[in-house]
Amino acid sequence: MLIRNAPDVPRSEITPKSVYLQRRQILAGIAGLTGLAAFGSGLAAAPVAAKRSAFSTDETPTRKADATSYNNFYEFGTDKADPAANAGSLKPAPWSVKIDGLVAKPATLTLEDILKPVTLEERVYRLRCVEGWSMVIPWLGFPLADLIKRAEPLGSAKYVAFETLVRPEEMPGQRGLFQPLSWPYREGLRLDEALHPLTLLATGMYGETLPNQNGAPLRLVVPWKYGFKSIKSIVRISLLETQPPTTWQALASDEYGFYSNVNPEVDHPRWSQATERRIGEGSGLFAKRRPTLMFNGYGDQVAQLYAGLDLRANY
Ligand code: MTE
Repeated sequence: MLIRNAPDVPRSEITPKSVYLQRRQILAGIAGLTGLAAFGSGLAAAPVAAKRSAFSTDETPTRKADATSYNNFYEFGTDKADPAANAGSLKPAPWSVKIDGLVAKPATLTLEDILKPVTLEERVYRLRCVEGWSMVIPWLGFPLADLIKRAEPLGSAKYVAFETLVRPEEMPGQRGLFQPLSWPYREGLRLDEALHPLTLLATGMYGETLPNQNGAPLRLVVPWKYGFKSIKSIVRISLLETQPPTTWQALASDEYGFYSNVNPEVDHPRWSQATERRIGEGSGLFAKRRPTLMFNGYGDQVAQLYAGLDLRANY
């Protein structure tokens, strides 16, 4: 996100028009969940049956091939194609997540421990990246609140901090001379944001387990915030009294704030946030731009979290 000046795609990533028109025809014939597919990891992803949540948008989902090949996951490189090309080396099992800080029941839980008591549901969410593009993704997951409540937050807990895996042997972006970020990748939410029913911990997408490049085996999805808040491959969740530092804010606090709510009225210092390009709706000269919606269109559910807060100062 800091690497390029313009928030758009290089020529090499522009899909020829004939190809995307053909893709659209195929897509038109395949509604809803698709069948089995092998992902970049080389593993066949297991199909998961789940009820679709009422929080879902009825907009057409982005093609799975786009959502799994146009990614930001700097642990695997800074180019959009790098995560799909390089994330095969990530080992998403066995996996455990440490929950600590201001909780009555700190624990290190395996993925199996985490999933045992939860019912996965499908949530079709819009995801708006700070760079100016968006997708519609059918996630499989469960509310983050379910997991946080199991740890029993203390009254003093006001924030939640998240960390991604640090494992240079498996993550080429964490090795070598050029390190675009300092690791671990960190994110944070206010506790009330973390407990909001829209805030999802995802373990899958498109009816299958998460591909590595999308944050296997467990990632956050906060649909009313810019995509970088949706931290991937989580290994630690900490409850805190004070606002935690986050990766992008630490790197460039004038460009990326703690809140990072999608807001068409507050521009990024280097580009407007008023419109967005939906991946799959053409690129380059053919790119159709849609108006960006306040809170990414989730204002009815979340605006009250920010009553009285100056959203220009708290970007
Ligand atoms: N999480 C980690 N650990 N590392 C990252 O580089 N990129 C973020 C977010 N989560 C990122 C991350 C950004 S900028 C975006 S837009 C979304 O992941 C992209 O998610 P997707 O690739 O599943 O669409």
